[in-house]
Amino acid sequence: MEERIISNEADVQDMSFEQSLRPQTLRQYIGQDKVKENLGIFIEAAKQRQETLDHVLLYGPPGLGKTTLATIIANEMGVNIRTTSGPAIERPGDLAAILTALEPGDILFIDEIHRLPRSIEEVLYPAMEDFCIDIVIGKGPGARSVRLDLPPFTLVGATTRAGALSAPLRDRFGVLSRLEYYKEEQLQSIVSRTADLLDTTIDHAAAGEIARRSRGTPRIANRLLRRVRDYAQVRGDGTVDLYFANEALKLLQVDRRGLDHIDHKLLLGIIEKFRGGPVGLETIAATIGEEADTIEDVYEPYLLQIGFLQRTPRGRIVTEQVYRHFQIEMPAE
Ligand code: ADE
Repeated sequence: MEERIISNEADVQDMSFEQSLRPQTLRQYIGQDKVKENLGIFIEAAKQRQETLDHVLLYGPPGLGKTTLATIIANEMGVNIRTTSGPAIERPGDLAAILTALEPGDILFIDEIHRLPRSIEEVLYPAMEDFCIDIVIGKGPGARSVRLDLPPFTLVGATTRAGALSAPLRDRFGVLSRLEYYKEEQLQSIVSRTADLLDTTIDHAAAGEIARRSRGTPRIANRLLRRVRDYAQVRGDGTVDLYFANEALKLLQVDRRGLDHIDHKLLLGIIEKFRGGPVGLETIAATIGEEADTIEDVYEPYLLQIGFLQRTPRGRIVTEQVYRHFQIEMPAE
């Protein structure tokens, strides 16, 4: 997979950057109003009853703030958060070690929870339901199972693919919150907030331009802001205005809708080689030299979201909007 400035995967820079600039409370968190309001109520109620919060599943596309929300939940509950991820837990014993080290009330955050192997998921069921785990000691006929009590805790799971979770695991979450792509005004506020924390002056129009090209995703907005800020610092006096935003984004090859050269290759490939489709995913993949899974998981979701691509039973088609975007005449039927 090629490197992209508009990738929605977190990189090392994003991680350290996000740590220091992330909102710490629900009040500071911009957007996802329904999720925020619901969580606010559940957190308040749990605190009033002096109970742990019910287990929470956060799902939705990458870069929309699932990890940030997990941290906020811990802050709002006034408890510690322990963080791990589905792929990091390889054996049931790994999970047992994490669970038995929890303190009462802790949040256990499991990112990419859909990537937990099924055999390990099963350790989670009694842990989530009854705060205990069954450990098998020994092997063969002499093996016996010992039940260990755990402190009460809250599991916060995050996934980009809620459908990939097994039903028994999904059913054990009391709160299911779906994160949505952000609106342009919300991203504009996020860009302004982040610029403020970075001591960078940015005008409203420049923040709006970055927001417009960020694919509904705060992680991308904040990354583009950092690059535009570099540009304004080297080519100007550091103040970010619309001119510098446009010039920097042109140089980064992020177009007016936030599409980059890979999106262009994909969309123009379908237009030029298949008259706009329908064309099967595998055929597209072979034509542009990318894995079908990568196209499906990484490149496509935003193009589908903005209505540039449509999935049909006979394959993908590009919509009229794409022809307009590229100022290409649509072929006659
Ligand atoms: N930075 C990244 N995401 C954010 C959000 N949702 N609110 C405020 N700042 C953010």
